[in-house]
Amino acid sequence: MDFPIKQILIQPEEIQLKIQQLAKEIKQAYQNEDLILLSILKGSVVFLVDLMKQLDMDIEIGFMYLSSYQGETSPQRAVREFEIPCPEFTGRNVILIEDILDTGASLNYAWNRCMEKSPKSLKTCILLVKEGYENTFSLPIDFRGFNIPRVFVVGYGLDYREKYRHLPYIGIPDLTKI
Ligand code: IMP
Ligand code: MG
Repeated sequence: MDFPIKQILIQPEEIQLKIQQLAKEIKQAYQNEDLILLSILKGSVVFLVDLMKQLDMDIEIGFMYLSSYQGETSPQRAVREFEIPCPEFTGRNVILIEDILDTGASLNYAWNRCMEKSPKSLKTCILLVKEGYENTFSLPIDFRGFNIPRVFVVGYGLDYREKYRHLPYIGIPDLTKI
């Protein structure tokens, strides 16, 4: 099937190399410590699955289901949360796993919710950071994948109206053909 992608921004091989590098950084940072990877659904699930396979250490995973886009290509400020049972965070190391930072509203929401549960430590691991993000919120990006231009992208977990999440690369859709 032909997908309406006008440019591939990041190839599957580049993504996997970056994930190996991020996994190395995470292993070094936590050594033998206990760790929870908290994936923000739905976009970061593909990233989580590939990343966790590279971490030969003691980890647990959890999910938080947030929605801020509701089908459009520009973010809405309001972040909605759908309840999902999660591992106990109190006194434990947690890394928030996010696919992309645009305005940062989703990560900011997730960060505050995690902090309410008094983790031992809280860090962030972000696959894509859109240019200009730093000016919006001042949350730390502890493990950073790629910096990308301020464009709308799909694939590798990211959707346009719930489609194209399964594409193995990250690309720019041709919105005139969708
Ligand atoms: P933020 O809250 O504005 O940082 O946006 C974060 C969420 O919006 C991400 O977790 C994605 O689900 C979605 N998002 C932001 N930019 C894009 C994009 O370029 N393509 C697809 N989804 C995006
Ligand atoms: Mg997301």
